[in-house]
Amino acid sequence: MTSVPDFGLIFNANFITLIRPIMHQVLLTLFQQPENTAVTLRERVCSTLRRAIHSGALSAGQRLPSSRILATDLKISRVTAEAAYAQLEAEGYLQRRVGQGTFVAVRIIKPAPLRKTVGQLRLSQRGDAIVQTGGCRDPQQPLPFAAGSPELRVFPLKLWKHLTAQQLRVRGEKLLRYGDPQGYLPLREAIAGYLGQTRGVNCDAQQVIVLTSSQQALQLIATLLLDHGDNVWLEEPGYLGARNAFISAGAKLNPVSVDEAGLRPDNTLPVPRLIYLTPAHHYPTGVALNLERRLTLLEMARREQAWIIEDDYDSEFHYDGQPMPAMQSQDRHGNVLYLGTFSKTLFPSLRLAYLIVPPALVPAFTTARTLYDGHSAQLMQAVTAEFIQQGHFAAHIRYLRQLYRSRRDWLLTQVEQHLKTFATPQPAGGGLQLAVWLPPGQEATLTRQARQLGVITPGLAAQFITPQARRDGWLLGFSALTPGEISAAVEQLSKIARG
Ligand SMILES: Cc1ncc(COP(=O)(O)O)c(C=O)c1O
Repeated sequence: MTSVPDFGLIFNANFITLIRPIMHQVLLTLFQQPENTAVTLRERVCSTLRRAIHSGALSAGQRLPSSRILATDLKISRVTAEAAYAQLEAEGYLQRRVGQGTFVAVRIIKPAPLRKTVGQLRLSQRGDAIVQTGGCRDPQQPLPFAAGSPELRVFPLKLWKHLTAQQLRVRGEKLLRYGDPQGYLPLREAIAGYLGQTRGVNCDAQQVIVLTSSQQALQLIATLLLDHGDNVWLEEPGYLGARNAFISAGAKLNPVSVDEAGLRPDNTLPVPRLIYLTPAHHYPTGVALNLERRLTLLEMARREQAWIIEDDYDSEFHYDGQPMPAMQSQDRHGNVLYLGTFSKTLFPSLRLAYLIVPPALVPAFTTARTLYDGHSAQLMQAVTAEFIQQGHFAAHIRYLRQLYRSRRDWLLTQVEQHLKTFATPQPAGGGLQLAVWLPPGQEATLTRQARQLGVITPGLAAQFITPQARRDGWLLGFSALTPGEISAAVEQLSKIARG
């Protein structure tokens, strides 16, 4: 009897010869299995032994054949067998003892039976709340009338390619390094300059945080500024992306109705910790929040030390006159967080958006960003900065504004002419989509019929929280569709009216 104290096991020297035929079979079978796809012979031997150990075919303390015997059994060279043993010893699977042999050094714990049945995931309460929102997915193809897709067929690709090459040439490997979590400084400067000129936003580059998307900004705000049970006011109907972010933070949602002058401040509601607004162009109806209400809300935020999110998601696309300056420009007490995105003005896969926060919040947001995804891609930030600074951004937006205005007018005319039996448009001064109201209770049926005709018609009813406030309607995206594509899709929808 040989004692092997390291494993606390007793070995019989003859055991090896006894188990050799069994071991031979197990190892040989595993070695020859087609799923053993390791590239080198050595790795194939290693993977054979690892699997034998994990499956329990080889157990802790068990002695393995010498490398010479293993080589003979598996018909490999002795050098390969030696190398495989050395590799597995380095990984902790085996232990080689001079004069004694090679032993399995690891005890595999048998998995206890699962408490829950397989297939039933156990998420955290927060995880459950997130999954139950259904998430927010944007359309991957600009099919008629998917909402929110910009026209990418007119994007100045050649120029973008030129600027990308130029940035790589000029800045080289610097753009390949880790970047500033707050955002690439020249881009922050360009954004601050642009927002100051076009929206009256009062900020410098130190207050700009470059993010992946508005959604990431909303998620960060909800995580950093809301505690479980905090009251949030949000427009009804309103943007699902914002609602879902607040739900994921465990906030208490207080839907506030919207009329022709925007959100109606309601003193009967609990005092909010945060108010979410789309003041320039309410999502989804397109109305603007009037000055009196803006001032009332700003004063309330000051008094209650509440935050206001100003989601200025499409203020670039106003067709009938200029939008009012940003609310942020009227904020004297640092309550407003201003949010914008390049998803519509440039292209969605760019994954760049910006958040302007009061100076005191910058360190918190920057630190939190490091826990999410570190920072946005440096190269694309550099190209975007250059695109803005060389004046191409302003020119591109001027062009898109003209294009989208004519498409909005065309869709409005088409809806009025061909869908008037069931759809009532709500004309808006801007935006990338047109809201149309449907007869009560008919959204689901009409949406199904539209789908059968090959037309996507995003619904409005789901954008209400209060059941009694729900109105049926569609939000028809037009920006990515030519007049011909709009006419063809409206023609399809008109078949619903004709039965
Ligand atoms: C109200 C609102 N905010 C923000 C966005 C932009 O989101 P993102 O930057 O996440 O693409 C959208 C897009 O449709 C929107 O409708």
